[in-house]
Amino acid sequence: MLSKRSLVGVRLNFHTLAVLFFMLIGTQAFAADPAVDSSDEAVAAGKAVFNANCKQCHKLDQKYTGPALRGATDRQPAEIVKTFIKNSGAVIASGNAYYAGLYKDFNNLAMPAHEFLTDDDLNNLLAYIEFGDKVDPAAAAATAGVEGGAVAVGGGIPNEYLTVILGVLVVVLLLILVVLGLIISVLTKYLTKQDLDEDDKEFVNQKTNLGKVFKSDMFVVIVTALVIALVAKTALDGLYSVGIQQGYAPTQPIAYSHALHAGTLEIECQYCHTGVEIGRSANIPSANICMNCHTHVQNVQGKEGVSPEIQKIYDAVDNNQPIEWVRVHNLPDLAYFNHSQHVVVGEVECQTCHGPIQEMEVVGQHSALTMGWCIDCHRQTEITTEGNAYYDKLVQVHSDSKDALKVKDIGGLECAKCHY
Ligand code: HEC
Ligand code: HEC
Ligand code: HEC
Ligand code: HEC
Ligand code: HEC
Ligand code: HEC
Repeated sequence: MLSKRSLVGVRLNFHTLAVLFFMLIGTQAFAADPAVDSSDEAVAAGKAVFNANCKQCHKLDQKYTGPALRGATDRQPAEIVKTFIKNSGAVIASGNAYYAGLYKDFNNLAMPAHEFLTDDDLNNLLAYIEFGDKVDPAAAAATAGVEGGAVAVGGGIPNEYLTVILGVLVVVLLLILVVLGLIISVLTKYLTKQDLDEDDKEFVNQKTNLGKVFKSDMFVVIVTALVIALVAKTALDGLYSVGIQQGYAPTQPIAYSHALHAGTLEIECQYCHTGVEIGRSANIPSANICMNCHTHVQNVQGKEGVSPEIQKIYDAVDNNQPIEWVRVHNLPDLAYFNHSQHVVVGEVECQTCHGPIQEMEVVGQHSALTMGWCIDCHRQTEITTEGNAYYDKLVQVHSDSKDALKVKDIGGLECAKCHY
């Protein structure tokens, strides 16, 4: 009876520990400069400025074309951050080592100047950056606690914390075992001093010492399993993240803007990327396709003369030299990816994989393009079989199973489908 109750006590403590741990993760992440306004009005006003000027490159908690912004006023004083937002080039040129390093990390991609922002705009921006769209750490911890392992990976907790959590769990488990062992030996000592009848004596004296706990099969199995899980997870993370280039957005030879052409002018992606529906490669348009319009359009509306950027198209055509666009997305040669399979057969939107291209001034790599990324989608995505005779047989065979037909069911997880 006694030992059972103490067990319950230990489990409760463990639960509290776990919750505390998750809350710690949630709250320790960033601190903001205390000068930053945290009122709801400031945050809302800041969000509007952010959406109009910064959204195409930044997210609050995730690296995008630019760095994740939350915590910016922790990394540098608020006043300097404001100067940086107005004119990043000037701050970097002034010798600020932090921003110079950041600039280098982002492939010398210069953030555009925002001289037009007022001081109020800037203060509101900082309010939004630090206090906007915050994930409630308690809620995140609750879902993580309920759903456990695999599901939590997809949800709230960033992957890199999982290794730490696993490690801490191992330590906590060991501590619990030690404490349990101590409790048992103290209790045993106490009980053996009491007057007990034979049955109880036998019960008390049975395998209760600490050494036995450590040697017990159960203990060995648990510890081995945890160590294996830890090693396997580290190895898998390594494999799944080989050569990640997410966020890569090189400067292109011509300041061509998708935000202008695909966004404002609403030109179809296929008008330029002619390969997406017929084959493996999407194709980058040749200068001739640009010339369809730019023979006439020599500058943006309201400006005189030929735009120097558009002059570069003319030069390329005159000299019969292709424009040397810098490739953004690049799978290693060992992997095979086919656009038409996804765009035509799978009916996947360009934006699902490439992000909001129609909002990007400079194209950046939106998805990780790792094997894990391909496979996750193949596990989750149902295939559209309706009206597609190709699938009729498969659907029939599959109709006994209650789950929807996913890409994985048609071989989307087979190594040879993606590897030569
Ligand atoms: C065209 C893309 C682009 C746009 C638009 C843009 N940024 Fe940036 N931003 C960057 C890049 C890239 C960096 C990394 C530093 C560098 O390369 O100069 C950066 C860095 C930053 C930093 C420093 C972050 C840190 O980790 O300390 C802040 C703050 C910032 N941007 C705020 C803004 C705000 C606010 C706006 C809108 C008014 C904005 N940015 C618009 C690309 C952009
Ligand atoms: C008017 C022509 C044109 C249109 C329309 C257009 N693009 Fe592009 N796209 C280009 C050019 C030129 C490049 C190469 C320069 C660059 O990366 O910005 C490019 C590059 C890209 C890249 C990066 C390629 C790489 O190097 O990995 C992606 C992805 C892309 N476009 C997707 C889209 C999507 C999605 C749409 C529709 C929403 C679209 N494009 C519409 C001309 C166009
Ligand atoms: C379907 C027509 C069309 C095609 C195709 C097209 N453009 Fe444009 N482009 C325009 C229009 C229209 C403008 C001017 C928009 C405005 O007035 O704001 C423009 C503006 C530009 C500008 C801005 C010039 C400046 O000084 O800011 C550049 C650069 C540009 N285009 C490059 C390209 C390149 C490179 C291609 C080929 C990959 C291309 N365009 C294909 C219609 C097109
Ligand atoms: C299922 C995900 C997915 C979808 C949907 C998708 N792409 Fe891609 N795209 C990729 C991958 C992966 C690459 C890199 C391919 C490589 O390096 O071999 C890529 C590369 C590109 C490139 C660079 C040139 C090339 O062909 O390698 C362009 C341009 C492009 N995509 C445009 C588009 C357009 C336009 C659409 C929509 C009509 C689209 N993509 C839909 C995943 C996707
Ligand atoms: C956003 C979701 C998504 C992503 C990301 C994605 N795919 Fe797919 N993929 C699909 C869908 C949907 C189909 C099914 C098309 C069909 O109906 O045949 C498919 C089918 C395939 C097939 C054919 C499978 C078969 O058995 O016929 C291959 C090969 C493939 N994808 C490779 C890749 C590779 C390589 C990547 C990563 C670079 C990738 N996919 C990323 C959604 C995705
Ligand atoms: C849906 C497509 C897909 C399937 C299925 C798939 N892979 Fe991959 N794999 C990829 C892509 C894409 C990459 C390149 C990712 C990168 O560079 O990060 C890759 C990379 C790898 C690498 C790393 C190679 C390197 O560059 O070091 C290995 C190893 C690998 N795959 C093995 C396998 C094995 C084994 C299977 C079968 C169990 C498999 N893959 C199934 C898409 C796939």
